[in-house]
Amino acid sequence: MADLSTSAKHFLSNRVEHFTESVIREMTRQAQLYGAINLAQGFPDFAAPAEIKRAALEAIDGDVNQYAITWGAKNLRNAIAQQTKALREITVDPETEITVCCGSTETMIATLFAICNPGDEVVIFEPFYENYGPDSILSGAKPVFVKLRPPAAGDGEWTFDEQELRKAFHNQTKAIILNTPNNPTGKVFTRAELELIRDLCVRFDVLAITDEIYAHITYDRARHVSIASLEGMAERTVTIDGLSKTYSVTGWRVGWAVAPPGITNAIRKVHDFLTVGAPAPLQEAGARALGFPPTYYERLASSYGARRDRLVPALEEAGFRCYRPRGAYYVMTDIRAFGFAEDVAFTKYLVQDIGVAAVPGSSFYNHPADGAQQVRFAFCKRPETLDKAAERLARLRDLRKQ
Ligand SMILES: Cc1ncc(COP(=O)(O)O)c(C=O)c1O
Repeated sequence: MADLSTSAKHFLSNRVEHFTESVIREMTRQAQLYGAINLAQGFPDFAAPAEIKRAALEAIDGDVNQYAITWGAKNLRNAIAQQTKALREITVDPETEITVCCGSTETMIATLFAICNPGDEVVIFEPFYENYGPDSILSGAKPVFVKLRPPAAGDGEWTFDEQELRKAFHNQTKAIILNTPNNPTGKVFTRAELELIRDLCVRFDVLAITDEIYAHITYDRARHVSIASLEGMAERTVTIDGLSKTYSVTGWRVGWAVAPPGITNAIRKVHDFLTVGAPAPLQEAGARALGFPPTYYERLASSYGARRDRLVPALEEAGFRCYRPRGAYYVMTDIRAFGFAEDVAFTKYLVQDIGVAAVPGSSFYNHPADGAQQVRFAFCKRPETLDKAAERLARLRDLRKQ
């Protein structure tokens, strides 16, 4: 085939010019290349619950194999409405306020396409899940970043500066993207923080888009609060969730948005033209899973808490400073003790020489230098995987002594 490298630029959209490949997904490929343990990408290396798998097989066998309703199978929307009431204390109409998409990833970009005009600004806390920046740009909006600051002491909380947040809001602001429990920091936003964000959203007539894909995974005393449940927010919030993390089925690609009817209507149209619909049999299995008893969710959170408590001491022993997560299944670390000038070189060393893949902190920041001394590990792995990684990471102690 002819080499298009010199002329390729002519064919490409200006929008993608500054995009880099997803660093998280790249680290998974590197882990495979070097036979490293993958603590980079957030997917479980253990089996999904037997019941959800059985439900999917039954749906396929029962010939639920054609397009589902574009905005989501009725059974799943009904189950989402019930779970939203129980988990988030929000009453929603499954007929007019829910859209099922191909993962929360598609849900986020469909939402941004549905609400953004050129010149709009979208406020994003950073470090941020790496899709949010490109999502905003693809939708024509300008991302405006507000820093989450790491705790001074190991067991403290990530916080933001109220004045910095206030400054980010003005007449051009269309939306704020929240992610709680947060990837990569593990922060769980408090009610007081969400009330402050609510007051700004109301004052500046701004929409909150809240990615709550880890809502069921919290630790210690942290309790998940949905901003949509705060007074004055139901009419200005899009709440996003999905099957991936709660039911350990990241490859199924089923997620959803809960939003007021006018916004839902717009998200549904975008979703229809993007993908038509999410996989029909997997939506039926999802409907079954959302009805799992409370013990399922208690066990989910406690088993991830145990994994956190397995990995964090091993990382600390190896020389990382860990920011103890209160939710989600990642731990952000400070790598200053190892004497590397920047995180990408360090993660290269980790994957090639130590045999563990992690994500460079810079990929979660707008300015890579801000994350140059941070690295993120995922602990959604079997205890034996974490132990094996801990054994390999222990070799870093020698590096510190050199
Ligand atoms: C904060 C956050 N949102 C969304 C996703 C992707 O979710 P989905 O599989 O539903 O597209 C991830 C996956 O790591 C995530 O961490």
